Amino acid sequence: MLKSIKRTALLAILPLMTALVIFTGTQRANAEPYVQGPTFCEECHKEETKIWATTKHFETYRTVHKSNYAKKIAKAVGGKKNMKRNKNCSVCHYSKEQKKPTGKSKIKYGPSCEDCHGASSEWETVHADYGGKNVKRKDETPAHKAKRVADSTTAGLIWARMTYDIAVNCMKCHGLARTEISGKAFGKMLKAGHPINQSFEIVMFSQGKMRHWLEPRSPAQLAKLFVAGQAAKLVSATEMVGKSKNKKYKAAQIQRVANAKAALQGVPGAAALISSPSDAAARAMMKAIGDQDISGLVGGRIPCAGPDQENLRKC
Ligand code: HEC
Ligand code: HEC
Ligand code: HEC
Ligand code: HEC
Repeated sequence: MLKSIKRTALLAILPLMTALVIFTGTQRANAEPYVQGPTFCEECHKEETKIWATTKHFETYRTVHKSNYAKKIAKAVGGKKNMKRNKNCSVCHYSKEQKKPTGKSKIKYGPSCEDCHGASSEWETVHADYGGKNVKRKDETPAHKAKRVADSTTAGLIWARMTYDIAVNCMKCHGLARTEISGKAFGKMLKAGHPINQSFEIVMFSQGKMRHWLEPRSPAQLAKLFVAGQAAKLVSATEMVGKSKNKKYKAAQIQRVANAKAALQGVPGAAALISSPSDAAARAMMKAIGDQDISGLVGGRIPCAGPDQENLRKC
């Protein structure tokens, strides 16, 4: 809301707003978005939450920190041996829960809803409000819907159709591409035996156990998801390739760049992205594809077998 108000107008109403903030005790307007956790989403998204609770993302919370292997990696990197309390591990392995704007955030789950869909504190009330308490989905006006979608997107909600943005989030963890982790820490992790593998591919990894959408995606949608995943991989690996001096790390990112470039050959709008990978070029390519069905072109490039693929495709 603040962004749309002209500076002069803002100055004029500032004292009033300050008074309001003091009066209501809320500071939401300036707040950094925070993660509210899956129990919060469960209230309305029962099915999605039930499905998530059967995935590795959920199970890992109870198991991964217990092995000697995990303790060895955590120790090698430095800091707490229990990876739940080690910042070099928790950014990828765990998600937090915060109940109030002023409350403390606590590690409570494995990777969860908001790791993929965005921290929810600023969009949660907006995204599901069709225009008042008693207004049902079918009665929402088109103007209200357009504003609701735009406002919740601005506030950080990543909708299902924003597949490139979701894929960017997958790559932060699955591509070992967190900018918060130092190159040195990545080097130590890998030396101590942390996996860095090339198997992650978004279609293969999302259409099995993890699939929490009722309508299976069509071949055209899967093809677009595949391409979004490759674009995110290309951009992330290009950015991270110089991050660590560790040879394994560098080689893995170089390999990712090569794999993604091959996967994107011939895709509408991909030439600029391939010659000069960037977030903007990736978004431009997704826009150029639009609603075109590119499954004939890339369908054969989507891997057939994977860890989470029970009900994907017959190859
Ligand atoms: C008060 C009920 C309610 C809560 C709480 C809630 N949602 Fe929603 N959510 C909805 C409704 C209703 C929709 C459908 C909106 C529409 O029709 O466009 C929706 C839509 C979504 C979508 C978009 C789906 C699409 O079609 O792209 C995502 C993603 C989502 N919610 C995630 C979450 C997450 C994550 C949380 C917890 C942080 C959450 N929601 C909490 C009711 C809720
Ligand atoms: C940049 C994100 C990231 C960071 C940081 C990270 N991990 Fe991981 N870790 C992953 C991913 C993704 C996997 C799954 C890898 C795969 O199989 O492709 C994984 C796998 C593991 C596994 C193997 C789990 C299994 O089921 O076999 C262990 C153990 C582990 N990590 C420990 C750690 C520890 C300890 C730290 C902190 C020093 C850490 N990780 C930091 C992303 C990360
Ligand atoms: C690992 C990432 C990830 C996690 C965790 C995750 N989602 Fe999703 N979500 C996705 C992807 C990917 C899609 C579908 C994208 C597409 O359309 O191809 C999706 C789709 C959705 C949709 C749209 C459903 C439909 O029928 O179209 C909703 C609603 C949603 N997620 C809510 C949630 C909630 C609530 C949670 C937590 C309980 C959650 N998601 C956890 C990645 C994730
Ligand atoms: C916040 C970090 C994070 C994000 C974001 C994330 N993951 Fe993961 N994911 C992990 C970690 C860590 C593991 C390994 C857990 C373990 O082995 O204990 C994992 C494991 C998985 C597995 C299980 C693999 C196996 O070998 O059984 C699948 C499937 C998966 N992720 C899919 C996805 C998809 C698809 C996305 C994006 C839509 C995604 N993940 C986003 C961190 C993340």
